[in-house]
Amino acid sequence: MPTDRPLRVIQWTTGNIGRRSLHAIIGRDDMELVGVYAHGADKVGVDAADLAGWPEPTGVKATADVDALVALQPDACCYNPLWPSVDELVRLLEAGINVCSSAAWITGGKQTPEDLDRIRRACETGGSTIFGSGAHPGMSNLVGMVLSGACERVDEIRITESVDCSTYESAGTQTAMGFSQDPNTPGLAESVRSESEVFAESAAMMADAIGARLDRMTFDVTFTAATGDSDLGFMKIPAGTVAGVHGYHRGWVGDHNIVSVGFNWTMGEHVTPPKPLEHGHVVQVFGLPNMRTVVHCLPPKDWTEPGFMGLGMIYTAMPVTNAVPAVVAAPPGIVTLADLPPITGRSAV
Ligand SMILES: NC(=O)c1ccc[n+]([C@@H]2O[C@H](COP(=O)([O-])OP(=O)(O)OC[C@H]3O[C@@H](n4cnc5c(N)ncnc54)[C@H](OP(=O)(O)O)[C@@H]3O)[C@@H](O)[C@H]2O)c1
Repeated sequence: MPTDRPLRVIQWTTGNIGRRSLHAIIGRDDMELVGVYAHGADKVGVDAADLAGWPEPTGVKATADVDALVALQPDACCYNPLWPSVDELVRLLEAGINVCSSAAWITGGKQTPEDLDRIRRACETGGSTIFGSGAHPGMSNLVGMVLSGACERVDEIRITESVDCSTYESAGTQTAMGFSQDPNTPGLAESVRSESEVFAESAAMMADAIGARLDRMTFDVTFTAATGDSDLGFMKIPAGTVAGVHGYHRGWVGDHNIVSVGFNWTMGEHVTPPKPLEHGHVVQVFGLPNMRTVVHCLPPKDWTEPGFMGLGMIYTAMPVTNAVPAVVAAPPGIVTLADLPPITGRSAV
């Protein structure tokens, strides 16, 4: 296991989250950026510094050539595409490249048995490890699991992302979660359930961590329609379409709701959500005693970007990027936040 040299890392896509991961990798002395994968043709050939907003050129140019990236023999890949691909994951893992993902992966539980088997076999072949995290799911679940450590008895861990998502410029993600669609669209609730199923993976991970054997998962959601038009620039939320999505993936043992992971999301100016927004991740552990905290992501004094959404992107990227050393050191296979030692940030001094 390499410990005496910087870990060789590739960055997979540079969207909202990927470019924050790239920025962090370039700045780390324990990691060496060796490659960048670009999905968009306009990014191919562009220096990583330009993609990440780094002041000096890195000499590493983005490419769409996966064979060339694999040939670099990186230790790890920070994987942040909009839509994850099992074929891509298998290609990376069987080449011995450890994968740290923000893209719809916590345990792999939502994959088909065939795809999960392909991933496991790729890890065996390559001696590699796959891990998924983010802000929510990810850090929010970790805080819930840690808080449960203060309880003699845990009845339920409930995590709610309670935020206005209007400045999260990923139209693909937002429409997949129901926003801007007719609330009466047949099958909309099922589509949101399936698009957000990674939250169910994170609920199952928390249940496993507290020793509960779930016998079923359920999903419930309430859509709130906009009372006026909103134009967010990257997408529109017309009056009468979905502007509020409040729902939970719940894990059960008999009639006990043991774990709940969900969201109270709004977009646009013309919506009143069913519960007031708390502008953060509301982490509740019900039991003996009840524990509660709200994780807020706030600007430091030296934050110069207009708006704060970039902070949320860093908050999402870093639980994944900061995990690279622990994931490289982990045994081959699928590892979760419940398996790894605490993932910390790096001192700036
Ligand atoms: N756990 C969490 O807390 C959390 C929170 C937010 C998002 N996420 C997940 O993190 C991932 C990245 O989110 P994001 O906001 O950064 O996404 P994004 O900016 O919308 O897209 C990420 C990148 O994916 C590539 N891409 C675009 N369209 C694609 C397509 N049709 N097929 C394949 N790739 C495509 C592009 O790569 P290029 O840059 O190379 O062109 C794009 O920059 C998503 O899977 C998202 O669901 C997790």
